[in-house]
Amino acid sequence: GGFRFLRWTWRLTWLSAIAGLGYVGYGIYETRNPVDQPQPDPKKKTLVVLGTGWGSVSLLKKLDTENYNVVVVSPRNYFLFTPLLPSCTVGTIEHRSIMEPIRNFLRHKKAAVKYYEAEATKIDYEKRLVYINDESPIKGDVSQTQIPFDMLVVGVGAENATFGIPGVREHGLFLKEVGDAQAIRNRIMDCCETATFKDQSEEERQRLLHMVVVGGGPTGVEFAGELQDFFHSDLKKWIPEIKEKFHVTLVEALPNVLPMFSKQLIDYTEKTFAEETIDIRTKTMVKNVTDKYIEAESTGPDGKKQLERIPYGLLVWATGNAMRPLVKDLINQIPAQKDSRRGLAVNEYLVVKGADNVWAVGDCAVANYAPTAQVAAQEGAFLARMFNQMAKSEEIEAKLAELSDVQEKASSKEARNQAFDEIKDLQKRLRRMKGVNPFEYSHQGSLAYIGSEKAVADISWFSGNIASGGTITYFFWRSAYLSMCFSTRNRILVLMDWVKAKVFGRDVSRV
Ligand code: FAD
Ligand code: NAI
Repeated sequence: GGFRFLRWTWRLTWLSAIAGLGYVGYGIYETRNPVDQPQPDPKKKTLVVLGTGWGSVSLLKKLDTENYNVVVVSPRNYFLFTPLLPSCTVGTIEHRSIMEPIRNFLRHKKAAVKYYEAEATKIDYEKRLVYINDESPIKGDVSQTQIPFDMLVVGVGAENATFGIPGVREHGLFLKEVGDAQAIRNRIMDCCETATFKDQSEEERQRLLHMVVVGGGPTGVEFAGELQDFFHSDLKKWIPEIKEKFHVTLVEALPNVLPMFSKQLIDYTEKTFAEETIDIRTKTMVKNVTDKYIEAESTGPDGKKQLERIPYGLLVWATGNAMRPLVKDLINQIPAQKDSRRGLAVNEYLVVKGADNVWAVGDCAVANYAPTAQVAAQEGAFLARMFNQMAKSEEIEAKLAELSDVQEKASSKEARNQAFDEIKDLQKRLRRMKGVNPFEYSHQGSLAYIGSEKAVADISWFSGNIASGGTITYFFWRSAYLSMCFSTRNRILVLMDWVKAKVFGRDVSRV
């Protein structure tokens, strides 16, 4: 009896393995061979979505595209998983691993979606027109046109803030897009190679190997941590000559870094950085940037201010967000937006105040939340749910109109009664659907990598809060970000990059 049982268990295991493989295989086949999509129905409303970032893509993910003629406009034909972008600056992760082509994603939607690789240059909210420009290197006969819309979602994100400080745009590198991460990676290597050039003076070596990061928000902190990791695990092994001089400095105007984290984690980060020999210069405000040094005003313990020159080889500028010109222009057109300073003021349904049929999500919208991916993603998902519901209720309204017509013209009492019953049913459904609750953000917590395989996390747990920092948090950080990656493909690529960096080390070539 026992033997037979074993044999059956064995067979069942095999069967489920084959079924599992078949399932995965079919999944891959389906991903690679998308079915034909129904074309947009011109009778439906045109919904134009600007941007392919966190806000817009989260909306598109949940949106039932059969309900509208959906048009997407963005200069970037991919979604970028920004939380892992700092890792791309030193090659812990390759940038393609955190990019998802928008074409593949849209091709799997239920109904076809139009995508134009272009920048929206102006929104005429009264005429309901968006002006778009093809800004890519290759242009056809037509590179400027306009798109009429019935509904518009603005999810164009933000620009890098420089506060008009001279020299920043010319000499500093930002960290927002894939190109930025590539430029930083190349500059780090260029500085190292140039520092070891024959007959280079000691002073010049010191300058070239001084890596300065301005802005102690999470972008600056995560980049400084990654850079220090790169130095410790790779650079100093392959280029031992730079060992003594390579140095990372983080400059922050406020009294401490990571202001959005709890005090305990700020202290932990500062302590870890000190051990890693990253210099933190708080209460230091950069005022001017030249090609070789920055000028910063620091406030000493006695409250005295002093201006100093800090020579650098690499300057990464991470001082937060500023409004895009498109957003500024829209604000200037709408009287109700005259007090908007940081972005488009929206109401609790994310409608841009003063403009009907225009919604805004993410970093370009101001709804009293921090400009984070977490907020943008929740806002996008909220709009998708609302639009899906709106479409359904419009469908019901149309059906109701049709039924009341039937009821009026019905020849028999029976037919009239039947129409009456159906109308009552539909009206009930409509009332239930119209009760859309306003957007409410649910904060899941803040997470940041701080280097040397340590991370900090402020996690919301039921009604309380857990603050933790260290190596266990680092594994939590890794698994959390891995699970949040856009697709299974991204997840596998990121995992392989991590293994690759661990086994072979990071690549120190410059391209
Ligand atoms: P974005 O994601 O920036 O997308 C904007 C989109 O609009 C892009 O596709 C862009 O190409 C497009 N666009 C720009 N101009 C136009 C135009 N004129 N017309 C049409 N399209 C246009 N947040 C977190 O919550 N957790 C993190 O760990 C985290 N890490 C980060 C790390 C880094 C290095 C950075 C830079 C940010 C990080 N953030 C993080 C913040 C997060 O990335 C942003 O809050 C989020 O990207 C905002 O989403 P969005 O959709 O508003 O804008
Ligand atoms: P930020 O706005 O959070 O921080 C910028 C810092 O630069 C501020 O602390 C500011 O005091 C400082 N600063 C400004 N001008 C300065 C000057 N002239 N000299 C010296 N310091 C100056 O910007 P960041 O880090 O780019 O983040 C942008 C948004 O993205 C934030 O909302 C952040 O929460 C989010 N983000 C979240 C991450 C995470 O959760 N892990 C990672 C990266 C970004």
